[in-house]
Amino acid sequence: MDPEFFRRLVAGRRMVRNYTTEPVDAAVVDRLLDAARRGPSAGFTQGVSFVVVTDAAMRSTIAALAHEPDYVAAGFDPWISRAPVHIVVCVSEEAYRARYREPDKSPDGSEPQWPVPYWWVDAGAALMLLLLGAVAEGLGAGFLGSHALDRLAETLGIPAEVSPIGIVTLGHPAPDRRSRSLDRGRRRWDDVVHREGW
Ligand SMILES: Cc1cc2nc3c(=O)[nH]c(=O)nc-3n(C[C@H](O)[C@H](O)[C@H](O)COP(=O)(O)O)c2cc1C
Repeated sequence: MDPEFFRRLVAGRRMVRNYTTEPVDAAVVDRLLDAARRGPSAGFTQGVSFVVVTDAAMRSTIAALAHEPDYVAAGFDPWISRAPVHIVVCVSEEAYRARYREPDKSPDGSEPQWPVPYWWVDAGAALMLLLLGAVAEGLGAGFLGSHALDRLAETLGIPAEVSPIGIVTLGHPAPDRRSRSLDRGRRRWDDVVHREGW
């Protein structure tokens, strides 16, 4: 293993909000999905699924559901519809609930109180693998939420028990506009890292 490679991978990741029109090789997309499905999952539930969209008309529909006009009005490129690949990351809460009722997890069949909803944790882990995998493949990726996730789910035929968490845009990076969120700066090390207790 090469710690320097990992450092460069992490340092090379940023949310890319513009792409060239060059398509992404389908085999590369499959490699990223294979990495993402190997992410950790509570009880090995593997409740995370992906919907891959390359069709231009569908990408435009998704972009509209993800407020692309608002981004453009704010000075960004039409980065969502322009991304040649969308990967909608989905997770089934019910899959986790069912898994944790199984005998090895719950001798009496009762569910835990879910102090932490593990389905969101696992979706985030899968998301990170997609984002880092894109860097390793020399691609750019972004992630964005939508306030119309119900309509997104309906548009893509996602089953009722499965929740889309957001959209990964994937493509060859093009110069883009920086997010204003970055003006906040990174939190100081000592604010983030606590040793032997907070
Ligand atoms: C859960 C989550 C939701 C996000 N939603 C959006 C979004 O809706 N639109 C967007 O442009 N960026 C979104 N981002 C990207 C963040 O703005 C970005 O990660 C942050 O500003 C740090 O920038 P970096 O990832 O390029 O380092 C989201 C990131 C995460 C982790």
